[in-house]
Amino acid sequence: MRLQKYLATCGVASRRKCEAYIIEGKVAVNGEVVQTLGTKVEAGDSVTFCGKAISLEEEHVYYMLHKPVGYVTTVQDEKQRQTVLDLIDDDMHRVYPVGRLDYNTSGLLLLTNDGELTYGLTHPKHHVNKCYEVKVKGQLSEDAKKMLKCGVLLDGKLTYPAKVKVLRKGEKSTTFLLTIHEGRNRQVRRMCEGVGYPVLSLKRISVGKLTLGELEVGQYR
Ligand code: URA
Repeated sequence: MRLQKYLATCGVASRRKCEAYIIEGKVAVNGEVVQTLGTKVEAGDSVTFCGKAISLEEEHVYYMLHKPVGYVTTVQDEKQRQTVLDLIDDDMHRVYPVGRLDYNTSGLLLLTNDGELTYGLTHPKHHVNKCYEVKVKGQLSEDAKKMLKCGVLLDGKLTYPAKVKVLRKGEKSTTFLLTIHEGRNRQVRRMCEGVGYPVLSLKRISVGKLTLGELEVGQYR
């Protein structure tokens, strides 16, 4: 990795600023001051900034956000829409979202800089349950409920068995909890559409043992 990128990745400063630090002679690699931009550093090299050792191991941070509708779950959006990162006030860590919630989905979203945790929570083989509160148009029939539970064909592959618990049945809509452990693209919306019930609103209320609780929309902890 190029020295200025390495320094920036370690959180010393922006890449541009790190270039200036290198030119000013504030950076040493393996005990030697290096003032050439683009010098390569490799695993095992010792790097110091103003005489202090720095390393790639950064502190891990974990945020639980109550994502509002109307935010994209990316670090940057090419259409300049608001992203979930706009809601997190942390310039010190490069956090990113764990998995994804659609623009129109609200609820529990984790953000972290811990790649191991991200892998553990998002890889399908780990079977981490995610529970959604779903409101669909119409009264959910027993047949549709059974289909959601047993599996719905999406892209030629059945979804894994899901749990369904009806919370409210109104004249025009039904609200229920749907628990799945996969994370296929727009899975809940497509499952509900697949059994004839378009989703009116969707909110994730838990991931594994973590629940949203009383966290207000747009707030994080
Ligand atoms: N399933 C969906 O359809 N959308 C989400 O945002 C999350 C799960």
